[in-house]
Amino acid sequence: MKNINPFIIGIYLSSEYFCNRKHETQRIVNAIENQRNLTLISHRRLGKTGLILHTFEHLRQKNDLTLFYLDLMHTNDLSAFVRSLAKAIIGKFDKRTTQVLKSFGNLVRSLRPSITIDPVTGSPGIEIFLQDNTNPKTGLDEIFKYLQYQKRHIVIALDEFQQIAYYPEKNVEALLRGHIQQLNNTNFIFSGSQKHMLTSIFGDYSRPFYQSTEFLELGKINREVYKAFITQKFEHGKFRIDPMAVEFILELTNDYTYYVQFLCNKLYGQGVKNITNEVIAETLSAILKEQEVVYYNYRNFLTEQQFNLLTAIAKEKKVNMPTSKAFIQKYKLGASSSINTALKALINKEMIFKEKGYYQVYDVFFSKWLEQW
Ligand SMILES: Nc1ncnc2c1ncn2[C@@H]1O[C@H](COP(=O)(O)OP(=O)(O)O)[C@@H](O)[C@H]1O
Ligand SMILES: [Mg+2]
Repeated sequence: MKNINPFIIGIYLSSEYFCNRKHETQRIVNAIENQRNLTLISHRRLGKTGLILHTFEHLRQKNDLTLFYLDLMHTNDLSAFVRSLAKAIIGKFDKRTTQVLKSFGNLVRSLRPSITIDPVTGSPGIEIFLQDNTNPKTGLDEIFKYLQYQKRHIVIALDEFQQIAYYPEKNVEALLRGHIQQLNNTNFIFSGSQKHMLTSIFGDYSRPFYQSTEFLELGKINREVYKAFITQKFEHGKFRIDPMAVEFILELTNDYTYYVQFLCNKLYGQGVKNITNEVIAETLSAILKEQEVVYYNYRNFLTEQQFNLLTAIAKEKKVNMPTSKAFIQKYKLGASSSINTALKALINKEMIFKEKGYYQVYDVFFSKWLEQW
């Protein structure tokens, strides 16, 4: 593609628009090449999905692997899991659709693939239906048999894997673990944003996936490397931006991948060719203004106490003792017992997170907006 905005804020495009992650990519490649499963963990929007797809691009060049990616975010039960697994793998082993349907049908009887036509683009796709009255466990069984039958090394990435812990069916973990263990030609990348849930799934002695993978915790992109990336992309687009201004962008966005990308995308898109600190600050203000409806909506989800606490944390940027006298007095927060309750509620709602003993607001732009209160 020509002349696209090089700061991608959607799905991964290609390595040209992907900053660094060399070490992390290497670690995943190494795990796969040595038949180890891996669990990738980080907060939302730091770059897990991008990293998986970037690693796939590498693996595709290097090896004769068959790669599958599944986003489990919107699967709410085992049946949805089975359908999304079937949909991801179907059509990948054999190229021609009719052939696929045939070979698939011979092995997997509980699922009914059907050719659909996209109403917007008119291009054909495949929808998977579970045959009426089929137990999703049977479908799962058949898909894993189908995988087992393949002669190639297969990699399956299960993104937002913690989702399975919320399925209403009992023993989903044990069921999946059982199937996965049986496969000798397939490796898995598990990925997710809820650190607590994932470390519990893979780290609790009593759970089926206990110690079945190695962990990779994704951090922020190194600032110097990100600076060079940003500078290069702007200069390539004939913008003027000096090192201090790039630093300012990373400062404002807290080096947080999505927010860096978003601010840069806006700056690039509005076409002001000389990017000064002033232009950056104005652009950020405009973004916060655009998001305001969302932020007011967040506010409606919170009690006054929770909102006040959240605002106080935003203003401090990082708080390690939210129940300390000084903090409570400074922001007039009331009794310390109620602060603990509010903290828990904010963590549950994923408004804040705690890292290395410090509480922070999860959404970087929202935090900026709160600072103005
Ligand atoms: N290394 C990177 N360089 C440039 N953009 C990135 C990088 N990693 C992620 N992104 C972009 O940042 C956004 C958030 O990344 P994503 O992979 O969706 O995060 P996560 O899966 O952790 O929620 C996406 O739009 C993605 O394209
Ligand atoms: Mg993701």
